[in-house]
Formats: sequence, C-alpha cells, structure tokens
Amino acid sequence: MRSVIRIADLSVEEIAGLNATASDIIAHPKNYAEVCHGKKLATLFFEPSTRTRLSFEAAMYDLGGHVLSVSDGNSSSAAKGESVADTAKTVSCYADIIAMRHPKEGAPYVASVNASVPVINAGDGGHNHPTQTLTDLLTIQREKGHLDGLTIGVCGDLKFGRTVHSLLEAMSRYPGTRFVLISPEELKLPSYVKKDILEAQGVPYIQTTDLEGSLPELDALYMTRVQRERFFNEEDYLRLKDSYILTPERLRSARQDMIILHPLPRVNEISLAVDADPRACYFKQVANGKFARMALILMLLKEAGTL
Ligand code: CP
Repeated sequence: MRSVIRIADLSVEEIAGLNATASDIIAHPKNYAEVCHGKKLATLFFEPSTRTRLSFEAAMYDLGGHVLSVSDGNSSSAAKGESVADTAKTVSCYADIIAMRHPKEGAPYVASVNASVPVINAGDGGHNHPTQTLTDLLTIQREKGHLDGLTIGVCGDLKFGRTVHSLLEAMSRYPGTRFVLISPEELKLPSYVKKDILEAQGVPYIQTTDLEGSLPELDALYMTRVQRERFFNEEDYLRLKDSYILTPERLRSARQDMIILHPLPRVNEISLAVDADPRACYFKQVANGKFARMALILMLLKEAGTL
C-alpha cells in the first residue's frame, strides 16, 4: 500500500503531476466536486494544527468525500495507552485513507506499515512534513514559474523546523538549487540533514546568521517560527524566539521578485506590515495547501484502487 511519509516518497515527476492536478483543480473545481463520493478520510491529529487538519478536511469535502476526525489525542483511545499500530489497524476498518500528525518522529511510518489504507504524514515531531512541502512547491511553481535554478533562503529554527527539513529534501532534487541557511548558532540545521541531503547530493549551501546581508541574492525567502514545543527549557526559547523579525525596512535590500514564504503559524518573525507587500506569499501558501492535498488524496486513492 502506497503511503507518503517523507517528500522523497514522491519522485520529481510525480510532484510535477501533482502540481499539474492541483492547478487543474484550481482552474476547474467543479470537475472534481464528486470524484471521491462515498470515500472517507480519517484525520488523526495528536498535535495541534489549524492549516494542515482543516485543509485536509476541506480537501476531502471539496472532492465530494467524508471526513472522520480525531483532533485531540486525549479524546481517542491513545489516551488509554493504545499503540499507533493498533490505532492504524482500527481506523483502516472505517476510512479509505488516513492523514496523521504525531509528536513522535516515525509514528506515521509505524501507522503506514500497519494500516491497510494509504497513510499520509501530516507532520511527525521535528522530522518531516511532506504535505507542507507539496504546498510550498506548488506555491513556488505558481509564483516563479519553475522549480529549478533557484536560490532559497531558509531562516529561523532550522534545527527543529520539520517544514525546512522536508523543503530542503525536495528542492535538492531540482538542478541549480542553492540554499542560504540563516539561523542562530543554536538553531543550525542538524548535521544529519546537511550530510544526508545537501552534501550527499552536492547541493551548494552557505550557513550564516545574517538575514539582511543575505536578502539581495535570494529568489525566495522561507521564514520559520522558533518551535517552542520542541525546547527543553523555556529560558532558551525566550532568548532565541525573536532572533529574526522581517520588517518592511529590512526588506529594502531584497529583490522585487523575491517571494516570501512561511508555513505558518507565525508568531513574531514577520511583522504584520509585511503582509501588504506583493512579495508576501504565505497566505497564498495556505490557499494552495488545500489543492495540493486534494491532488495527493486523488493520487493515493487511485493507486490503492479505491477510486
Ligand atoms: N503549516 C502547518 O503545519 O500549520 P498547522 O500547524 O496549523 O497545521
């Protein structure tokens, strides 16, 4: 059974197909309004979410399907000690496809090897968030017109930010990609991501603490929040949380065609005044997220023989 646990589970060609389907859904939503009639998506979220859970659910409704939802782990039998494996076997009896978010790295993978329906990782700890990456890739494709030859700045919490890890893994596969990794020393990209993804594929990158100095060379700037929930002590979080705050003044040195992305939620790292800048694309990302997930649900249900 095909599941999507990390972005590398999808080939570059499949991602191109998903982007094409998502764009077709955006252009012709009525053509897709009944394609999942009678099918059910289970959203199992053991960590908070606004965008990912609601966009998955909106995606299934807009495909004509139904949704079963666990929006709080404490309201499921996980609170009584049920394992992820047993949960996955159980939910497979009720739903045609599962989207799971879990604080433990690897939990959606465990679900996928025990489920009899496709499982989509909707974010596992500090590890991966492949459907956010599909959202990001669709947004970059639609805004820049292509995914190759881009210099991407990623800024903020590169240590715990799972959206960054998945984005780097995805963009590393496109020719001509360069990364500028901007973070405080304590929140640098983990060495396993650098070694296994960037260095293994020979992708050029530089590491810096300087956001403003990096802006002129960027095609896209991907801001991230400092991940409070992954810190061991509050003092460190408070010291690091406002390391980077993007403001209209700081953006003066950026190119006019640089796009500004953020997976959201934002805390303080992009000032509200930036929202009016035509380069700000983070709410377009939110909108694209539903279409990217519609395309993925369709692909996996077709491959499973359910559609
Ligand atoms: N981008 C993202 O994963 O947002 P949520 O945590 O609100 O789902």
